[in-house]
Amino acid sequence: TLAVDIGGTGIKALVLSATGKPLTERNRIKTPRPATPGAVITTIVGLAKDQGKFDRVSVGFPGVVRRGVTVTAPNLDGNWRNFKLAEALSEKLGKPVRVANDADVQGFGAIEGHGVELVLTLGTGMGSALFVDGRLVPNLEMAHHPYQRGRTYEELLGDKARKKIGKKKWNRRLITAIATLEHAFNYNRLYIGGGNAQKIILKLPSNTRIVENVVGLLGGIALWRDQP
Ligand code: BGC
Repeated sequence: TLAVDIGGTGIKALVLSATGKPLTERNRIKTPRPATPGAVITTIVGLAKDQGKFDRVSVGFPGVVRRGVTVTAPNLDGNWRNFKLAEALSEKLGKPVRVANDADVQGFGAIEGHGVELVLTLGTGMGSALFVDGRLVPNLEMAHHPYQRGRTYEELLGDKARKKIGKKKWNRRLITAIATLEHAFNYNRLYIGGGNAQKIILKLPSNTRIVENVVGLLGGIALWRDQP
């Protein structure tokens, strides 16, 4: 399975075995700007060539996705509304393609499959995914939920905010947000992934785990198995 993770800053790919183990080195190309459907597809085709052989493709997309069709893409450009990404990419690569929200894919790679598990990804945007006994509640979009004085989680915790307010304040904001989310979702476990997870310097609650960025690709294997 060629696993692709489309991010606001980079697009990453690697090939996974049938059991989800990496078979190739991950490669990464900067997200083209403007990140239009055409430009993003061209970038993925380039990454795919470097990855060698594969039979099918899983894509994590930074927005709402329904049945392979993209609905929103807050951190990309151009017209992604109702874009048939799975179909368009499948035509270019000559292989079947499945697409899901990037945080949902990351979650599949991270969760244990028991109880209520919440996943947050901290990168250009803020991704969120919710699982109940390993079953996904698709397209949870905490990112754009107004949270403090009308500002959304993503406005407060996204990469732009982090760069503006600095590491310490961003960390304090994150801890407050986690406390709020814990009260709302009463999850058993929280996983935090994404490029900015490594910028966390404050102590996290004991039910919280940081996951490696590569998990955003490893979860791609789950798009080809039936939901439990
Ligand atoms: C999008 C989410 C996505 C997240 C991380 C947000 O802006 O709305 O769908 O998962 O960014 O890429």
